Amino acid sequence: MDAVTEIIKQAQHAINSAQDLQALENFRVQYLGKKGEITALLKNLGTLSADERPRAGQLINDAKNLVETELQNRRTILETEQLNQELAGETIDVTLPGIQNKLGSLHPLTRSLQRLIKIFNSLGFQTIEGPEVETEYYNFTALNTPEHHPARAMHDTFYFADGRLLRSHTSPVQIHYMENHQPPFRLIAPGRVYRRDSDMTHTPMFNQIEGLLLSKNSSFADLKGLLHTVLEQFFEKELTIRMRPSYFPFTEPSAEVDVAWGDKWLEILGCGMVHPNVLQACNIDSEKYTGFAFGMGLERLVMLRYGIPDLRLLFEKVAI
Ligand code: DAH
Repeated sequence: MDAVTEIIKQAQHAINSAQDLQALENFRVQYLGKKGEITALLKNLGTLSADERPRAGQLINDAKNLVETELQNRRTILETEQLNQELAGETIDVTLPGIQNKLGSLHPLTRSLQRLIKIFNSLGFQTIEGPEVETEYYNFTALNTPEHHPARAMHDTFYFADGRLLRSHTSPVQIHYMENHQPPFRLIAPGRVYRRDSDMTHTPMFNQIEGLLLSKNSSFADLKGLLHTVLEQFFEKELTIRMRPSYFPFTEPSAEVDVAWGDKWLEILGCGMVHPNVLQACNIDSEKYTGFAFGMGLERLVMLRYGIPDLRLLFEKVAI
């Protein structure tokens, strides 16, 4: 009896001092396992005399039940503690800032194009579009650039097997429009153009904005005034521009426009008075009407306005 009382005492102490479920399990094995101390007592019953056995058996079984109950109670406590700890670790701190829902924003190219369209619209220019897949006729021939003309080599054009091509500039949109409309009119035609070119300052696809104005009395001075106004509105500052004589087959005379930027002159667009051959190809009387055209690279303008050093950044996925 003393031995049983002693074991119960030790077991109770052990069980209540167990700090976690693993320690508790170890104590269960120590007392109630196959080789446990209480199990050993039961096994020893056989060595007792027949009249001692029932009382001893009863005693040991009571001890076993007691220890099992204590084990179960402690297990419940430890399990609850563990659960509470887990829950505490998982609680949501509602005072933490939430995950921001990042809204997209318009690409600088889109924003700039929208601004330019607005500026031109305010000056009476309508916006039109034309196809990106073109024929040689619209991309070159009708623009006074016959086959074998050296100016065709100025553009490294992508050709399809059937002879069609990806337009290398937006100028062919002029032809589509003039085929179906008689002057006077003023329009811009923004869109993608394609050339076999790829480095720091060239991508195989880029955007141009074509401009065309035809009337009975338009002059080179009007052209310069218009471009100066548009550029100043776009960059939102006073600018010095200069026109430098240049060559395009579809304009005569032709010029390139440079902007004074810091201590440099930066070339930003090509322009000129529409060549009579271009008007004639579209059945417009070149004795009656004159006009000017221009073509500007949208990326160039965007890079200057936002101080973007590498053209390719405009086409990469960048986190800002
Ligand atoms: N199409 C020319 C180019 O891609 C740009 C250009 C120059 C367009 C003069 C014009 C123009 O309409 O008159 O480089």
